[in-house]
Amino acid sequence: MGLASLAPALKPLSGFQTSSPDVELELTAAPGEVNLLPGAATRVWRFTGRVLRGPANSLETNEGSYLGPVIRLRRGQRVRIRFRNRLNEPSIVHWHGLDVPDVADGHPRLAVEGGRDYVYDFEVINRAGTYWYHPHPHMRTGAQVYQGLAGLLLVSDAEEEALGLPSGSGELLCVLQDRRIDARNQFEYAAGGMGMAAMMQTMNGWLGDTVLVNGRPLPVTGVDRRTYRVRILNGSNARIYKLAWSDGTPVTIIGGDGGLLERARTTRTLTLAPGQRADVLLDLSAHAAGSTVELRSLTYPADAAGRVGMMAETSRLPQGAAITLMSMKVSGTVGAHFRLPDRLSAPVPLWAIRTDAPVRRVPLVFRQMNWLLAGRTFEMETAAADETVAAGATQVWELVNEANPMGMAMAHPIHLHGRQFRVLSRSGAETNPLSEGFSDGAPTDTVLVLPGQTVRLQVTFSQYPGLYLYHCHILEHEDMGMMRNFRITGRRLS
Ligand code: C2O
Ligand code: CU
Ligand code: CU
Repeated sequence: MGLASLAPALKPLSGFQTSSPDVELELTAAPGEVNLLPGAATRVWRFTGRVLRGPANSLETNEGSYLGPVIRLRRGQRVRIRFRNRLNEPSIVHWHGLDVPDVADGHPRLAVEGGRDYVYDFEVINRAGTYWYHPHPHMRTGAQVYQGLAGLLLVSDAEEEALGLPSGSGELLCVLQDRRIDARNQFEYAAGGMGMAAMMQTMNGWLGDTVLVNGRPLPVTGVDRRTYRVRILNGSNARIYKLAWSDGTPVTIIGGDGGLLERARTTRTLTLAPGQRADVLLDLSAHAAGSTVELRSLTYPADAAGRVGMMAETSRLPQGAAITLMSMKVSGTVGAHFRLPDRLSAPVPLWAIRTDAPVRRVPLVFRQMNWLLAGRTFEMETAAADETVAAGATQVWELVNEANPMGMAMAHPIHLHGRQFRVLSRSGAETNPLSEGFSDGAPTDTVLVLPGQTVRLQVTFSQYPGLYLYHCHILEHEDMGMMRNFRITGRRLS
């Protein structure tokens, strides 16, 4: 923990920091209160923001919610964000999915004490997509996100704009998070604490008993008879959703973590693991006025996600429970129908399959009461030889979700910082009920690896050198050390 205090509040930054940015924001993390349920206000931690320079709509506040403002950026913008930590513990913000210089990535070694600031400078080089931001301090990410620190970061670009996708009131943003709420309306979080029960919660991931959408339980939204773009983030610490529409309408997926697919695809269900996003079209043009459509998570056996230990789950809403997330009441008003084009986006050269890429094997294992990546636990400043890559290099990572000798395995959503990679193949777990809803065609930064499954992904590393993270996005696993650095060395022109 002492490392945090050594990090200077203002780091020298590479590139353009002396010139003026296109967008300058201030983002403050501080304690606050929201009225979530009837009765006492809920104490939360939340991000609030201000636009200091650039388009006023760079930030959209979430009235009445603990969620941070939606940050809207455009590809090519130079951005400066002053993060003000007004918590009474160290923190740092990570821009999940963005390719940024390492000093702007929110690594825990850069965390600043409460009362101090950290200034980020980066250029938006990502394609249009649904990204998000959340804190990333050492061993406290789970607790801080759970208290309310998270928000969406949406990037637009010319290619996306040319499609004329539903926007404004035709765009629905849905952040899914589960919380355990006590009798006094306060968030309960025992993971990371002392004692056997807390340890089990940490090893299995902390599940709430109420699912909040945009910080509210079961919101009911009025909708028109038109096409909606629904952008969904699983911002939960550990819950995996198997999403579907209540009326059996297939899920039309147009994008994932890293932006638009080349072509839309339809599935019956969509598996969304912690950290992942989905971009979906919902056409209500033919729905009857007065009808209701719900976004649901369908039930699946808890075994599908696996767990360790014999102790009974303590959440009243176990992993795999059926949940109604959000309800939409269709009005009589007819709005714009969006005709899905054949092609949504041009192929991205970076994601072309490369058969010559070296393969790195990364077993995900439970050993000595700990989750490990390739046999190792987190070390703040260290990256091993096999975790060191040249800028712009391409590798195949083979994520092997092995059971330990006791037969214990869990589903792990593995996330790489700063990269959108490509899932090449999966083997094992074909009959797992969560397999049905995978959408592997899309560039992604987080991939769910089921118990007994091996996932091969192809990743081309950033051109920015430095120290970046990869980890399990079950935040309790991350905090207990299922996280490692990878180091990108000097520039390689490729
Ligand atoms: Cu969204 Cu390192 O995390
Ligand atoms: Cu990330
Ligand atoms: Cu995990």
